[in-house]
Amino acid sequence: MVSPLSLSFFTFFLFLFLSHPQAQAQSQSQSDPQSPTNDPPTICIIGSGIGGSSVAHFLRLYSSSSNSNPFSIHIFERNGVVGGRMATVNVSGHTFEAGASILHPKNYHAVNYTELLGLKNKDPSSDSFSLGIWDGQKFVFKTLSFSSNIPFVDKIVSLANSLLMFLRYGFSLLKMQTFVESTVNNFLKYYERFESRPVFETVDEMLKWAGLYNLTTRTLQEELIDVGLSPLLIKELVTVITRINYGQSASISGLAGAVSLAGSGGGLWAIEGGNWQMAAGLINSSDAALHLHEEIDSVSYLGEYYELNSTKGNSYKCEVAVVATPLAELNIQFTPPISIPKRKLQHTHATFVRGLLNPGYFGLDAVSEIPKLVATLEDPDLPFTSISVLKKHDEKDFTYKIFSREPMADILLDSFFSVRQETIRIDWGAYPHYNAPEEFAPFILDDRNLYYVNAFENAASTMETSAVAAENIARLILSRFFSQVLLISSNLGSNSDGEILHVDL
Ligand SMILES: Cc1cc2nc3c(=O)[nH]c(=O)nc-3n(C[C@H](O)[C@H](O)[C@H](O)COP(=O)(O)OP(=O)(O)OC[C@H]3O[C@@H](n4cnc5c(N)ncnc54)[C@H](O)[C@@H]3O)c2cc1C
Ligand SMILES: *[C@@H]1O[C@H](CO)[C@@H](O)[C@H](O)[C@H]1NC(C)=O
Ligand SMILES: *[C@@H]1O[C@H](CO)[C@@H](O)[C@H](O)[C@H]1NC(C)=O
Ligand SMILES: *[C@@H]1O[C@H](CO)[C@@H](O)[C@H](O)[C@H]1NC(C)=O
Ligand SMILES: *[C@@H]1O[C@H](CO)[C@@H](O)[C@H](O)[C@H]1NC(C)=O
Ligand SMILES: *[C@@H]1O[C@H](CO)[C@@H](O)[C@H](O)[C@H]1NC(C)=O
Repeated sequence: MVSPLSLSFFTFFLFLFLSHPQAQAQSQSQSDPQSPTNDPPTICIIGSGIGGSSVAHFLRLYSSSSNSNPFSIHIFERNGVVGGRMATVNVSGHTFEAGASILHPKNYHAVNYTELLGLKNKDPSSDSFSLGIWDGQKFVFKTLSFSSNIPFVDKIVSLANSLLMFLRYGFSLLKMQTFVESTVNNFLKYYERFESRPVFETVDEMLKWAGLYNLTTRTLQEELIDVGLSPLLIKELVTVITRINYGQSASISGLAGAVSLAGSGGGLWAIEGGNWQMAAGLINSSDAALHLHEEIDSVSYLGEYYELNSTKGNSYKCEVAVVATPLAELNIQFTPPISIPKRKLQHTHATFVRGLLNPGYFGLDAVSEIPKLVATLEDPDLPFTSISVLKKHDEKDFTYKIFSREPMADILLDSFFSVRQETIRIDWGAYPHYNAPEEFAPFILDDRNLYYVNAFENAASTMETSAVAAENIARLILSRFFSQVLLISSNLGSNSDGEILHVDL
């Protein structure tokens, strides 16, 4: 662990480093692999989602005291667009979030990005909201249609306060809220100032410091039984929420579960035009070279630098390499090999339909009686996880979003839609398949300068948790790599003081 003072030291040393005449920027093509310290070092980031773009942002933010670039940043993205799991879908000319859709009011990095990048919060929808919990035969619980000015998921809490909910679930609802609030409060420690917040070398250490680690060792269900929630609340509302947010049952870890429950609370928000714009803006403002359609398939450590090769046959040299995507389903060849715990991703199939649901499927007489959010219990026979109304165009014309664990076949869709004008299917390798106790991959994959942002995703997967992990990785890079480089440059006769540099190592 690095001492709290280290960052101010590093800024100072970066300044010294920059004053070294040989450290002026040179183009990549002129670089001599034998003496990489002659160039500003290159930091390569694999993945342009919120994780990769946040690493670039915080690297610049925390080394901005100088007026020239102490390092260059390259971001590689296999797709033709940035944002990763933040993406929009165009359904007959209307744009909707296809992946990560909602932010929590205490997602402070996202709040800051929005302001920094001049993005706008989406206007709350004025459509009415209602929730129905479907067991395959009937709605075991159904709220009355509810009109308000807040986006639909918001309402789960307003509804939780409603009499109907209270009648069914009783005081357990309050216990659930206390559990979520205390977890969120622990998480807020990650926004503390450097003086009180160390740089973490492992996920375990990072979670333990905030008092969150124990929640990853047991299932949500076990945690909630311990805090006194009724089995009915866990089986119904809690499971409905973990299924919608993580596609999994209440047997996910307590921490992923708490994050998921927090994501059904009040004050939720999103960015007008799409959350992916956070990644686009951060990449632009951090002066990173973006390589779209460039899929990295090997990372080799060659002594002084990493060589990243792409499927197109391009090769890049970088002193620091950052993996900002889950490794679970990737075939990146690492030399020397790395060792991380085996993980599986949970796939969520998001199906977007412009059309009209068939009320008969739900045993109802009219479309207007179908809840705006139809959620389901954990039952392998149920063909979908949730169906929600994204937009009501008119009484007989809606856009819906369906989540399911398996692809939605046409024949199945036809069983509950009476009209289907347009159907778009997306198969997301959505988030980790959570298991308690969780075992975490290292942030530092090779004891040198190969970093893994998404090691933290096995604690919980959200846009904000990726940003929080990325901020820590940026600090790790600045503390570990730049002190090293400075040692090298001081050996080469720069005016920086090697003695003082050792203080931070
Ligand atoms: C359906 C769904 C709903 C969700 N809802 C929410 C929500 O409401 N709120 C919330 O906060 N979170 C939500 N999440 C989770 C959230 O999307 C993720 O936690 C977060 O976006 C992860 O960001 P990331 O940058 O870590 O990874 P990613 O966004 O996955 O970015 C990784 C990037 O790396 C690229 N890549 C992968 N391999 C390579 C390679 N070899 N070479 C080059 N590039 C590569 C990928 O194309 C991708 O762009 C949801 C996720 C899904 C799927
Ligand atoms: C959506 O797609 C249609 C074609 O299907 C296209 O005409 C339209 O411009 C697209 N709209 C947006 C906002 O991308
Ligand atoms: C957000 O920005 C403000 C103002 O620059 C800063 O004081 C605050 O620490 C930032 N929050 C986080 C979480 O970084
Ligand atoms: C976590 O669990 C360990 C072992 O059961 C216990 O000693 C410790 O106090 C717990 N920590 C927190 C923050 O609850
Ligand atoms: C990119 O950043 C520059 C300032 O760094 C800003 O002027 C410009 O508007 C940004 N472009 C986009 C597309 O965000
Ligand atoms: C990467 O590409 C370089 C240059 O083409 C090649 O020499 C090297 O063998 C490649 N590395 C791997 C692991 O394929």
